[in-house]
Amino acid sequence: MLLRQLYDQESSTYTYLIADEATREAALIDPVKEQVARDLKLIQELGLTLVYSIDTHVHADHVTGSGDLVAQTNAESVAAHGGAPCATRHVGHGDVLPLGSLRIEVLSTPGHTDDSLSYRVGQAVFTGDALLIRGCGRTDFQNGDPQALYRSITEVLFTLPGDTVVYPGHDYRGFTVSTIDEERVHNPRLSGKTEQEFVRIMTDLKLARPKRIDEAVPANRVCGRTAMSFDGAPKASEGYFQLEAEALLGQAAPPRIVDVREPQEFTGELGHIEGAELVPMADVQGAAQSWPKAEPLVLVCHSGRRSATAAASLVALGFEQVANLEGGMLAYNRAAASAIPA
Ligand SMILES: [Fe+2]
Repeated sequence: MLLRQLYDQESSTYTYLIADEATREAALIDPVKEQVARDLKLIQELGLTLVYSIDTHVHADHVTGSGDLVAQTNAESVAAHGGAPCATRHVGHGDVLPLGSLRIEVLSTPGHTDDSLSYRVGQAVFTGDALLIRGCGRTDFQNGDPQALYRSITEVLFTLPGDTVVYPGHDYRGFTVSTIDEERVHNPRLSGKTEQEFVRIMTDLKLARPKRIDEAVPANRVCGRTAMSFDGAPKASEGYFQLEAEALLGQAAPPRIVDVREPQEFTGELGHIEGAELVPMADVQGAAQSWPKAEPLVLVCHSGRRSATAAASLVALGFEQVANLEGGMLAYNRAAASAIPA
């Protein structure tokens, strides 16, 4: 197995790239939105194809890169049943995700959050925030439960072979990897501790509220694609929202934008919106099969007519947050020009 441990300094998050060396199929575990470009470059340099973007849980301390990765590759986004609704595949304990000749086994390890999963691949286990090196994830928000975490660690993770290598979701002190045996013996929260003692340790932690929780949790429930909601925008009778160009321009973190024009229009004189994906009208229905239905989408064309038809077809397919950019690129360019200060 090819394995790379990547780090986001801002949130002290580890992202893992794993791949089958023969088929070059790859998975990222816990990608960070701000590091998506780094991760994609590495995947390309190593000649890999991203098949899964996996989250161990809905994070409170950083925003996932899953939505961006799914938009830019053919990968599936994977989360727990009861985890991020935007994921394209939901898994639970005992499920296996094949990756070439590798098997990614799903272990349910709730307690840090109620949707926390660990993933075991051969002799490695990726524990997210359930088990950290000489510590564990906190249990005081997002339906955290110290009793559940104690059982997840002692009955699920600590029953793995002792030489299983532990790859945690974070480290704040410079540790990188550990083993099940090492944590069984040296983890101060668990070694020789009863469930009651563990619960007392966790209850007495009195940690500060995570700085990014109010932003990160809702963003992660839409796979990090946007914090935008179309609430307040008028709805067409077909069920899609009518979004004004000014409203789109005002977004600090714009949602997924799908441009349904033809390639020559996309690169033509009206240009296109930065970050927009080109999916010509005829391909929308097919491409949409792999798009998460809860993720907000804005559809764009020349004048807003083709995109309205596409928006209506996506609503009919069950998409919940679809908007049509009113007036299309014509209106967008007008609004963008007038938004530039004189
Ligand atoms: Fe977490």
